[in-house]
Amino acid sequence: MAPLLEVDDLRVEFGRGRETASVLNGVSYHVDEGETLAVLGESGSGKSVTAQTVMGILDTPPGRITGGSVRFRGEELLGADPERRRLLRGESMAMIFQDALSALNPVYSVGFQIAEQFRFRRGMSRKDAMVKAAEMLDLVKIPNAKQRVKEYPHQFSGGMRQRAMIAMSLALDPELLIADEPTTALDVTVQAQIMELLDELRRERGMGLILITHDLGVVAEVADRIAVMYAGRIVEHTDAASLYAHPAHPYTRGLMDSVPRVDDVAGAPLRPIPGLPPSLSAIPDGCPFHPRCAHAVDVCTDEVPALRELGSGHQAACHFAERFVAEGPDRPTTHEVVSR
Ligand SMILES: Nc1ncnc2c1ncn2[C@@H]1O[C@H](COP(=O)(O)OP(=O)(O)OP(=O)(O)O)[C@@H](O)[C@H]1O
Ligand SMILES: [Mg+2]
Repeated sequence: MAPLLEVDDLRVEFGRGRETASVLNGVSYHVDEGETLAVLGESGSGKSVTAQTVMGILDTPPGRITGGSVRFRGEELLGADPERRRLLRGESMAMIFQDALSALNPVYSVGFQIAEQFRFRRGMSRKDAMVKAAEMLDLVKIPNAKQRVKEYPHQFSGGMRQRAMIAMSLALDPELLIADEPTTALDVTVQAQIMELLDELRRERGMGLILITHDLGVVAEVADRIAVMYAGRIVEHTDAASLYAHPAHPYTRGLMDSVPRVDDVAGAPLRPIPGLPPSLSAIPDGCPFHPRCAHAVDVCTDEVPALRELGSGHQAACHFAERFVAEGPDRPTTHEVVSR
């Protein structure tokens, strides 16, 4: 059977001529029903642009899809009829946006905004739709949902606004949910609660879930598989346990090292990856990560490493992936430290 969502060799550019930015350079990933895929990478690596292309909401222009395919249950969506795309949005696939505050309209009550979907997509009366909206707020564990459904976004805390966004995205019972940095603006405790909620809803509803984040710590517990993005490419892809135990790409290893850990001595310096991601209008030849890679040798500046299979579904785009897998992580992961 075809996966729920299959993105294959997706290519997107912005701008023209010498200013052309190659934002996606052949992104491939898939999600099955009931499964969580985490998409991880630094700011600007193309996580949101990929999601927008999947949802059919990429701004074109300035964006341009120059190749690849996006299939939902085997149906090709790139080039599909806009009416078909509109129908699929909400009904079959939904997205929670990076910024919950600006995604909610301040002049309407939270309940009214959730109810709109039941009114316009399900033909419900205003009253029935508000009852459904309260049920949705209850589903995402907002206490006192019947009262709070009438309140405005500014009366909700950050965590509650994010819950309201989740409620809105789930109103039409989609099969795929894309959560774009759903916890970025929240404090650590609330982050964990939102992750737990998403995980629970995914399980109960058998949804496919794509969790976009730049924080490796946030997804460790909930992701089945992790795809690591760099400069518009997937550079490593495997199940969560293998990624922690045997990171194959120096970029992934760098991300793991830059996460503060429980056994760090208080005040110990963080170890960020040196340098910056490349400009997408001048991606270096060879491996796009080579200018920042401590292990780079001649072949890295000359040849683009393909994303290749290392065994058991572990894929990485590094000329020396096998060596790094064999070495294990640079230092024990927090997971190991905690379970010791
Ligand atoms: N509308 C646009 N016009 C021009 N360039 C854009 C547009 N949208 C995105 N880009 C560029 O595409 C690249 C990838 O952006 P994207 O938003 O996908 O990054 P991201 O991985 O989601 O980063 P973040 O973690 O900051 O959200 C960036 O360099 C960005 O500047
Ligand atoms: Mg983004």
